[in-house]
Amino acid sequence: MNNLIKDIDFISAEEAQVCDFKTTEDENTGKSKKLYIESYGCAMNFSDSEIVASIMKENGFDTTSNFEEADVIFLNTCSIREKAEQTVRKRLTDFGRVKRRNPDLTIGVLGCMAERLKEKLLEEEKLVDVVVGPDAYRDLPNLVLAAEDGIKGINTFLSREETYADIAPVRLNSNGVTAFISIMRGCDNMCSFCVVPFTRGRERSRDPFSIVKEAEDLFAKGYREVTLLGQNVDSYKWSPEENNKQRLNKKGEEVSEIVTFDLLLEMVALVDPKLRVRFSTSHPKDIIDAVLYTIKKYDNICKYIHLPVQSGNSRVLELMNRTYDRDWYLERVSKIREILGEECGISSDMITGFCSETEAEHQDTLSLMDIVKFDFSYMFFYSERPGTLAAKKYADDIPLEVKKRRLAEIITKQSQLSLERNKLDIGQEQIILIEGSSKKSDAELKAKNSANKVVILPKGNYKIGDYVKVRITDCTPATLFGEVIEHNPTLS
Ligand code: SAH
Ligand code: SF4
Ligand code: F3S
Repeated sequence: MNNLIKDIDFISAEEAQVCDFKTTEDENTGKSKKLYIESYGCAMNFSDSEIVASIMKENGFDTTSNFEEADVIFLNTCSIREKAEQTVRKRLTDFGRVKRRNPDLTIGVLGCMAERLKEKLLEEEKLVDVVVGPDAYRDLPNLVLAAEDGIKGINTFLSREETYADIAPVRLNSNGVTAFISIMRGCDNMCSFCVVPFTRGRERSRDPFSIVKEAEDLFAKGYREVTLLGQNVDSYKWSPEENNKQRLNKKGEEVSEIVTFDLLLEMVALVDPKLRVRFSTSHPKDIIDAVLYTIKKYDNICKYIHLPVQSGNSRVLELMNRTYDRDWYLERVSKIREILGEECGISSDMITGFCSETEAEHQDTLSLMDIVKFDFSYMFFYSERPGTLAAKKYADDIPLEVKKRRLAEIITKQSQLSLERNKLDIGQEQIILIEGSSKKSDAELKAKNSANKVVILPKGNYKIGDYVKVRITDCTPATLFGEVIEHNPTLS
């Protein structure tokens, strides 16, 4: 996994967690051709690359970590900010050089940038052979075959049904312990700054039984944590009628109940008490108490909620079309604290310098941060995206230096708050799941606690995938340090 912080408009206080892009690993199952995929953007995009790898595997491709030896290179792209698209353009120049040496190479642009730019990408980037949007990955083998015959191809059809529910993802960059499961696609919100509804299409929920099956399969293979992914998981909704499917329960009775997010969480939590369940992203307007009570009820549902606020000022939130205001957000946080207590991790996304944001309104974001005390945040300055509501309706009128100065202020604030929150953990006993080696030292391992914080512990005889009970002894703003009290503690 590449942990490179290249995107200067994306700065996280949790620096160790920033993953700029992921590539495929070497896999040799004797297939005749090699596929290299580089993925940018959010977890949903990384998860899509695993579906793409699965589709291509069925069609004669092994993955490689070396793009120089690939027959096909896919760039799975992100459009969320201008910088994300610039990075991809630069990368296409690198791959163009390889293609000049090897004209048989097929280059494909997938994902959100493909969807946003469509034919324009083929016109502007002469060395690109195929352009495929997020709902058209089943068409990739055909398009690649045509490209091998010199025919360029594009499919950016956005579907109302596609969820790839039947495709078993090929796990890429896997630690063998934690995995993503996409539970829905698209987004029906219209946040005025956001390009996602245009690149990912209408919201649709995946069959819950296929989600549970995927979680069961992962558990059987030794995975110990799944993260349920969606742009707005709280609006997950699935019913057999809507999906024209007949479902029978174990007793053979027809199931007609609507599965909402709280019920889905419960279904996945019941797979096994040793399988941790996380989810992302929650929307402040949609997170209901039933979800909070379900989190409370199951020890294996992690006590952590990513609840992006975007701004602490109600006028700005209205311009952003977030459909909640400052008071609503603070009420939801109080409810989280009331039901799940102080130890529940809460993180956020924030944007500085949105259209017409005043200095006083920026101060409201800082004051909201002080009230909520986020454990960490992903922080950005506003980047206007063509075609969005904000681009059409409002002037992008905050000078870049002001956007960046405000961003620096919220980053400083978040770093102080992360340290303050982490200090509260010192002395506590926590059950953590070991995910890998520590980047800094071979003598240490890296784990996560329920609140999604990284915990470093001595290597001992512990293995990746083990649960360990530790006492937290020290911290930085980004990391906790623990001493082991018990190996494989009882998980209720
Ligand atoms: N569905 C999630 C967000 C997905 S995009 C939600 O509603 O919270 C991830 C984050 O990127 C957003 O939360 C927002 O903070 C940021 N972002 C989106 N569009 C942006 C833009 N035009 N400029 C800067 N940041 C943006
Ligand atoms: Fe974008 Fe808003 Fe949808 Fe999140 S909820 S993906 S920010 S439109
Ligand atoms: Fe980027 Fe698309 Fe995700 S725009 S953040 S890759 S949904």
